Amino acid sequence: MKKLLALIMAMAMVLSLAACGSSSSSSDTTTEDTDTSAAAADDAAESTGDATASTGGQKIGISMPTKSLERWNRDGTYLKEQFEAAGYEVELAYADNDTDQQNNDIANLIADGVDILIIAAVDGDTLSQTLADAGDIPVIAYDRLIMNTDTIDYYVSFDNYQVGVLQAQYVIDTLGLDVSDTSVSYNIEFTAGPTSDNNAGYFFNGAMDTLQEYIDAGILVIQSGKTTFEQCATNEWSTDTAMENMQNTLASYYSDGTQLDVALCSNDSTALGVAQAISTDYAGSNEVIVTGQDGDIANLANIVDGLQTMTVYKNVSDEAGVTLVLAQEILAGNSPAEELLDSLDAEAAYDTESYDNGTGIIPSYLLVPWTVTKDNLEDLVSTGLYEWDGDYLVSATDE
Ligand code: BGC
Repeated sequence: MKKLLALIMAMAMVLSLAACGSSSSSSDTTTEDTDTSAAAADDAAESTGDATASTGGQKIGISMPTKSLERWNRDGTYLKEQFEAAGYEVELAYADNDTDQQNNDIANLIADGVDILIIAAVDGDTLSQTLADAGDIPVIAYDRLIMNTDTIDYYVSFDNYQVGVLQAQYVIDTLGLDVSDTSVSYNIEFTAGPTSDNNAGYFFNGAMDTLQEYIDAGILVIQSGKTTFEQCATNEWSTDTAMENMQNTLASYYSDGTQLDVALCSNDSTALGVAQAISTDYAGSNEVIVTGQDGDIANLANIVDGLQTMTVYKNVSDEAGVTLVLAQEILAGNSPAEELLDSLDAEAAYDTESYDNGTGIIPSYLLVPWTVTKDNLEDLVSTGLYEWDGDYLVSATDE
């Protein structure tokens, strides 16, 4: 009953956030009169200062990948609210995970005369031709790097490698692994994101690099033999595909009573499918460690219910806020670098080493992710984005 309630609440939130955004490739410039937009307005007013006065009719073009995963509904909503509160006009498009649709969306935004483009790519390798038409319009790659085009001015994201490190470190700490103690061994399986998402390799490598010495020592064993990113990849971060892949792995390698100890999933949408497969298809009775990333409402409920063990939380309202401050500087004719960090409300690093998109290094602002478990779940309430509703966290923006 509790699970059903949590699921209904999660679906209601996705629908309500979806209602706040625009439909595919259409523009929507209405302002939602919610607590969040009021909070965003306050924040924006604080962080923009004089810049607000000079936004006079400037238009922000935002291209998001999909509404089918919770976080992009949040990203689109927060970006739109925060830019509008700072006095900009916003055109927001969602591409339904379709690269042709996203190219059309971006072409339309360029034709509509936007002053800056903010793009979270469906596939980072498919946008260079369309972006060649962007001319002088500045482009910020949002969350996912856009590859092989020199039109990208900046990249705003989280420390993607660190996401994987945090997942791996959680496994090491929870199992109490000691690389010199080879008297114990645990079975682990990996579920990664799609090869089309430039982030997915960073998540996987952060986790795999951190666990490698334990794998080499035979303390962590991958029964399926799926050790490479490509072998573990999940198209479109699909929950169903992740579930089917785990069902197959369980049937092939764990149906004889072999114990599965860890399912290291790169994000929450895949963790949802993997947790489902474990609850229906796993013969063992031990509590499997299941990792995730994002803090989707359904996964936070799974953490309460013990079906998922941790998630790496990324505050995407802060990611939108950093993007706003950066865009304001660019639109004011500046070329921000490290000193922008002083104007940010969120903790971030300025990185000019890690993200080469094939045409050179893209200067990056990387926010800080953190580990959420059952023990510190309530800390999410202090972000102002969640509240308790009985036993579960719900979105505070869900009205
Ligand atoms: C994002 C993750 C998200 C995934 C699926 C990645 O690019 O960084 O936060 O879980 O896409 O939406």
